[in-house]
Amino acid sequence: MGDHVNLFHGFWSYGDQMIHGCFSKVGLGRLKGLVSSTTMIVFFFFILFASRLNWMDIPIIRGSQFGQIIFSSRSTKKHHERIEFPLNCSDSGLPRKCPDNYPSVFEPDESSIKTCPDYFRWIHQDLQQWKSSGITKEMIERGKPSAHFRLVIVKGKAYVEKYSKPYQTRDAFTVWGILQLLRLYPGKIPDLDLLFYSGDKTMIKKRDYQGPNATSPPPVFHYCGEEEALDIVFPDWTFWGWAEVNIMPWEEMLKAIKKGNERVKWEERTPYAYWRGNPYVAADRVDFLKCNLSDKYDWNVRLYSQDWRKEIKQGFKHSKLEDQCTHRYKIYIEGATWSVSEKYILACDSMTLMIKPKYFDFFSRSLAPLQHYWPISSKSKCSDLKFAVEWGNNHTDKAQAIGKAGSKLIEQFLTMRNVYDYMFHLLNEYSKLLKFKPTIPSKAKRVCSETTACSEKGLYKELKVKSMVKSPSEKLPCALPPPYEPHAIQASLDTKEKITRQVETWETEYWNELTN
Ligand SMILES: *[C@@H]1O[C@H](CO)[C@@H](O)[C@H](O)[C@H]1NC(C)=O
Ligand SMILES: *[C@@H]1O[C@H](CO)[C@@H](O)[C@H](O)[C@H]1NC(C)=O
Ligand SMILES: *[C@@H]1O[C@H](CO)[C@@H](O)[C@H](O)[C@H]1NC(C)=O
Ligand SMILES: *[C@@H]1O[C@H](CO)[C@@H](O)[C@H](O)[C@H]1NC(C)=O
Repeated sequence: MGDHVNLFHGFWSYGDQMIHGCFSKVGLGRLKGLVSSTTMIVFFFFILFASRLNWMDIPIIRGSQFGQIIFSSRSTKKHHERIEFPLNCSDSGLPRKCPDNYPSVFEPDESSIKTCPDYFRWIHQDLQQWKSSGITKEMIERGKPSAHFRLVIVKGKAYVEKYSKPYQTRDAFTVWGILQLLRLYPGKIPDLDLLFYSGDKTMIKKRDYQGPNATSPPPVFHYCGEEEALDIVFPDWTFWGWAEVNIMPWEEMLKAIKKGNERVKWEERTPYAYWRGNPYVAADRVDFLKCNLSDKYDWNVRLYSQDWRKEIKQGFKHSKLEDQCTHRYKIYIEGATWSVSEKYILACDSMTLMIKPKYFDFFSRSLAPLQHYWPISSKSKCSDLKFAVEWGNNHTDKAQAIGKAGSKLIEQFLTMRNVYDYMFHLLNEYSKLLKFKPTIPSKAKRVCSETTACSEKGLYKELKVKSMVKSPSEKLPCALPPPYEPHAIQASLDTKEKITRQVETWETEYWNELTN
């Protein structure tokens, strides 16, 4: 089952980016919130000791202000001092100004460029629609009713015009993410003008732009896409944190989940399929509740309804994602559209039972059935789930391997470095399609980390401080691989379909045998 799904992988060599990413790129400052001061001191001496011995290729910390200056000691390579620029809220005047001491160019000292993971190739696919026509100002003007905000970058500075308020603070955290990209690669992000929609539903439906009198579709950035839509897929806000439900930035979450994974070994996990979430966001999720354990049936499924209001009152005691890797199987089911839960579920080392999704996010099109997850049809979910769990408990090695492969993939795909590089290439390719020179809209406001975070309070501020990029990158973004050949995309879809059919055949045989 492994060799004919090549399109989905072929990126195993990118795994080392995490180690560099945590320490030298985004800075040690972000670790502060994670560990107590005692462990911090122990950690400090460990690093000092380790780097003396030269068996850890990480920077040494110097100076009295912890985390302010990092002295790079790349073995015998050139030594240079890297200055960090933490959030500077010293200017209390209103409107707040953006400090002008952040570097406006970045000078990578590593010339070697790695190729980005394969899933970056979907960038070409998502922009395909505008390849021949280009993107005109008129298209953007026409897309305004479908967008929550417009983001313009001119000479490395960002400007935002808000059109309407989306749910919670999704837009603010999305803008924050883009601001951090500007800090990671200063001087590298081209001028651009884009529309962003922060809701759930896809906005630009293909069917609205067909027929003889059809206008060309406006380009709108969004967190998810689907076969029938043209939304341009962009990483969602949770990579920088989800304040309303106490979810930390992705890098920190992943670390916590991995630590949680070590608490209960796969064999010792509860041999059932687990899901916890809010069912009342989609009819399919409500329907899914019928698979739960009852006096009449046991579909090997254990479901828990998340009441966020109650969780908020009780301090998120039962919703901690790192405490939810206790079952051998975890179920992924879409919400109103895609669900941000996907990456947390896949990271658990449990086998993910994926109820056939209709929507995709920027990385999910490169997941392969029976390799990274087990496919479940949405029509016969309960019986499919029962079969999958029983199969897994009969074939523990294989089930465990699928679980591990899914987690490993997430860890390698979704280093923050890759997330930023994906954003970088998507914006870069997008800007190449613009037929006009972006200018600052009259109603747009200049935004930077300071205008965005300084006036925030509590967790809203904490998440931003934690996920902040404190100095420019030391290396270039990865190199964007070429587009998929159309036949390769079709072949991969066919393969997925074939594997799914195979699983369905096993299911049918199993149920026939039981009822005979
Ligand atoms: C913070 O910004 C102000 C100007 O807004 C500047 O004078 C000051 O030097 C900055 N502080 C740091 C630590 O960069
Ligand atoms: C296209 O536009 C023409 C002229 O305005 C109109 O007569 C025709 O009905 C339109 N066709 C469709 C499919 O809307
Ligand atoms: C599912 O069943 C379990 C066990 O009976 C129960 O604790 C849980 O509350 C049920 N979940 C839902 C969403 O009703
Ligand atoms: C699991 O093993 C039992 C006992 O060998 C067998 O009866 C059952 O059909 C198997 N189920 C699956 C789904 O493989």
